Amino acid sequence: MKKQKTVLDIQKMKTEGEKIAVLTAYDYPFARLMDLAGIDMILVGDSVGSVVSGYDNTLPVSMEEMIYHTRAVVRGTSGALVVTDMPFLSYQVDRRDARMNAGRLVKEGGAHAVKLEGGTNVADTIRAIVDMDVPVMGHIGLTPQSVHRMGGFRVQGKKEEQADKLLADALAVQQAGAFAMVLEGIPKPLAKRITESVSIPTIGIGAGIHCDGQVLVIHDILGLCEKYSPKFVKKYADVSGIISQGVRDYIREVKEGIFPDDEHSFK
Ligand code: KIV
Repeated sequence: MKKQKTVLDIQKMKTEGEKIAVLTAYDYPFARLMDLAGIDMILVGDSVGSVVSGYDNTLPVSMEEMIYHTRAVVRGTSGALVVTDMPFLSYQVDRRDARMNAGRLVKEGGAHAVKLEGGTNVADTIRAIVDMDVPVMGHIGLTPQSVHRMGGFRVQGKKEEQADKLLADALAVQQAGAFAMVLEGIPKPLAKRITESVSIPTIGIGAGIHCDGQVLVIHDILGLCEKYSPKFVKKYADVSGIISQGVRDYIREVKEGIFPDDEHSFK
């Protein structure tokens, strides 16, 4: 039996210079396969709203949905650390709600840690959750829950002033007690600067090679999401093609009276 990774194991990987491999998962079969393959951390991302539920962004995702998906992922996992996203409105309004919702993701979902978006503006909230012994992963840069403020999903921190603000955000997230942080959609040199300035691991997505680890959305790397494909996504397989072919073959065999044959029927 594999040993379940902890936040301390993930932090040790930075100290020892071992890169951290992270993917999103939203259900039991995907979680099981990536856990067996040796993934270090699984993120039950609120990207579930875009890639599974078909919304335009992550804003409609609810606490109930995150708990449901977390339970399924946890059941498929025995080695990876499971981190769950706190959905929009579950932590922004009031600190008591934030603590209760973080606690629900751990107690009802089985998550080992939670993730929330923002920098200096959420530092007190991170501290409040960490203080009740729920580990928190930060998320700065392109924060999808801020899509309307950003005017779309745009690379952040290109101007020097914005870059300085993002470095201040990273330091605030670390200072608040986060065990790691996601750096999303920022220039490679800025991600390097942040990674070298903090002692907790940085997990990049669209942030270049210098981060301590990388995270991608599983549907993107398997070619399961044809809606859009950002520049930072590398497609490692074309699962859409395999599914379409399987479904077409099934339809044809049913129509032609080939399926079910004797091998798939009871005598
Ligand atoms: O929701 C998500 O999947 C995420 C990652 C892309 C970092 O936040």
